[in-house]
Amino acid sequence: MKGRKVIITGVPGVGKTTVITTAMEKLAAEGITYQAINFGSFMFEVAQKENIVKDRDEMRKLDRDTQKRLQQLASQAIANISGNVIVDTHASVKTPKGYLAGLPEWVLRGLMPDMIVLVETDNDQILMRRLSDETRVRDKEGSRSIDGHQQFNRSIAASYAMLTGCTVKIITNADHLLDVAVSEMVEALR
Ligand code: AP5
Repeated sequence: MKGRKVIITGVPGVGKTTVITTAMEKLAAEGITYQAINFGSFMFEVAQKENIVKDRDEMRKLDRDTQKRLQQLASQAIANISGNVIVDTHASVKTPKGYLAGLPEWVLRGLMPDMIVLVETDNDQILMRRLSDETRVRDKEGSRSIDGHQQFNRSIAASYAMLTGCTVKIITNADHLLDVAVSEMVEALR
């Protein structure tokens, strides 16, 4: 049976990985399994082998052609995975030269997702989550700029839906309401 391909996106620090991990535990208890793939980790492994980055946050600063090449390699590897797959990635990446489409046409054609999920929350909450995460080298960004990025992600998700016919689901992951976001994610992935 053909598996489902679901792409989960959201600006850095919104809590994509946290929501996915908890939702997958709940689904596994119901006998529904997904393989979760982190697109950024695929890209990072290649970039690290090539010695062009020290940490995953440096990838946003690579030149456009290098980022595109890394995207291509990751999408080829993911497209070949069978069964239910969740791809943890970015609708768009904020680079010094402007927004880069996280799922450009050649990536989408390989993946052909059934659904794209946008995980969102208030800009101030994202700002605070980034500030309290000492394990990462986050870009210095105010809440207005985070708002612009979240809005851009909605626009570009609409174009992905036009290209593939997938649905776009928006899930809010608010402070102290992780369980609500997880329930919505479980419902969407059932
Ligand atoms: P990636 O690893 O995906 O980076 P990221 O978006 O920075 O991911 P994070 O893991 O930091 O954020 P998250 O949203 O998963 O939040 P988390 O659950 O950790 O990608 C790395 C890089 O790869 C990108 O920068 C890019 O360069 C590249 N890349 C990836 N995809 C690409 C693509 N398609 N094309 C080109 N490049 C690509 O949570 C964050 C914090 O919030 C945690 O402390 C958590 O405890 C807390 N939290 C979560 N939920 C709640 C809640 N409800 N209440 C309170 N706190 C909460």
